Amino acid sequence: MGNKVDLLLGLQWGDEGKGKIVDVFTKKYDIVSRFQGGPNAGHTLIFDSKKYVLHTIPSGIFHKNSTNVIGNGVVIDPVIFNKEIVKLEKSGVNLEKTLLISRKAHIILPTHRLLDAASEISKGKLKIGSTLKGIGPTYMDKTGRNGFRIGDIELTNWKDKYKELCDKHISMLEYFNVDIQYDMQELDEEFYSAIESIRKFKFIDSEQYFSLALASDKRILAEGAQGSLLDVDFGTYPFVTSSNTTAAGACTGLGIAPNKIGNVYGIFKAYTTRVGSGPFPTELFDEDGKTLAKVGKEFGATTGRPRRCGWLDLVALKYAIQINGVTELIMMKADVLSGFKTIKIATHYNYKGETIDYFPYNVEEENVSPIYKDFKGWDEDLTGVSEGKDLPKNLLDYISYIEKEVGVKVSIVSVGPDRKQTIIL
Ligand code: GDP
Ligand code: IMO
Ligand code: MG
Repeated sequence: MGNKVDLLLGLQWGDEGKGKIVDVFTKKYDIVSRFQGGPNAGHTLIFDSKKYVLHTIPSGIFHKNSTNVIGNGVVIDPVIFNKEIVKLEKSGVNLEKTLLISRKAHIILPTHRLLDAASEISKGKLKIGSTLKGIGPTYMDKTGRNGFRIGDIELTNWKDKYKELCDKHISMLEYFNVDIQYDMQELDEEFYSAIESIRKFKFIDSEQYFSLALASDKRILAEGAQGSLLDVDFGTYPFVTSSNTTAAGACTGLGIAPNKIGNVYGIFKAYTTRVGSGPFPTELFDEDGKTLAKVGKEFGATTGRPRRCGWLDLVALKYAIQINGVTELIMMKADVLSGFKTIKIATHYNYKGETIDYFPYNVEEENVSPIYKDFKGWDEDLTGVSEGKDLPKNLLDYISYIEKEVGVKVSIVSVGPDRKQTIIL
């Protein structure tokens, strides 16, 4: 720590429990920063019997001594951001002094949301299952060099720039030829009012800010959103999000050099979930799958959609560990596995008739079927356990097997949603 930026990233398809662990870690850090994604994320924190779900705001905000930064790689919807702020203020959390926003972060316009919806409708059965927050269209404008950034709202003619881009989007909507109802005047007003609210926060040149912070030995944690298998390059394309969710994304999303990356905390559920469409080799459609969903309360924190559930996929996990250079693993939701007689881990895939141990280009059901190893389950309720030595032997065996196969230690096991239900091994 110090002079390096530590990363915390999801190794699966998102919702691994990143928010909870960032909150647990924040006391060790001066600065917590989001580097990609936007309000498609839903990070849940529970402490003192209260639950908070954060979408754009970093999960370090509940610790008074830390500064939180929204980095240049993030896409911000001012309307959603504002709602989040108002909700937090109502619970007594004031962020005006402790939350900084990069001028280079791109802004989600209301018409980006409309385009997202139109694209999904037009895809029919092949839809991505996006969160409909306008993420894809906003990143398209970013890479297409048409984007609208936080820095733009400091210009006097920002409304002209906004309007010009909206008009373009409206003409693009015609291409999709789908029925989308909207009232542009209402959307404009909501947007203008949110822009005025966001101005009370300090806008920064985040790359400069991080450079100075590193030089003065500040301890920095970068909080990933989504998961490695949703990465636009390495995920299950096209069923991915539109940003780099993996470690490299933290360099471009904050403006820090690769040699400034310190620890990489890789976080995974003791099983697997996915929300939205796309391949999922270990997905279960039987009673076991239903039990995981029910006991794990697997519903999306942003959209409320049920999450698809399945066993742990070690092939995919190894792939994610490799791409991110994970130095420590954090296993979440171990408590959800209590009560299963047998627990399975996919150790290999049968890929077009051949046994493989790597994540191939095609992971669709017709190409890949998982090969499982069985593990003995346990009955003990883990939610009250606070020390590693009190965990059931069968769980410790399960963990040891994973560590041995992937070559990285599991340093934390989470046994419930509360901040306190966290076991340091
Ligand atoms: P994130 O997007 O990675 O921050 O994760 P989400 O908040 O979307 O989803 C994780 C869900 O699991 C939330 O409802 C958490 O409250 C919950 N959770 C986190 N850790 C644990 C755990 O160890 N056990 C159980 N049962 N729930 C957990
Ligand atoms: P957190 O940070 C789980 C999924 C969507 C969809 C795909 C593309 O809470 O882990 P998008 O709206 O990004 O264009 O949707 O990605 N997705 C997530 N799944 N957790 C998330 O974030 C997600 N953010 C996007 O369901 O399949
Ligand atoms: Mg989530």
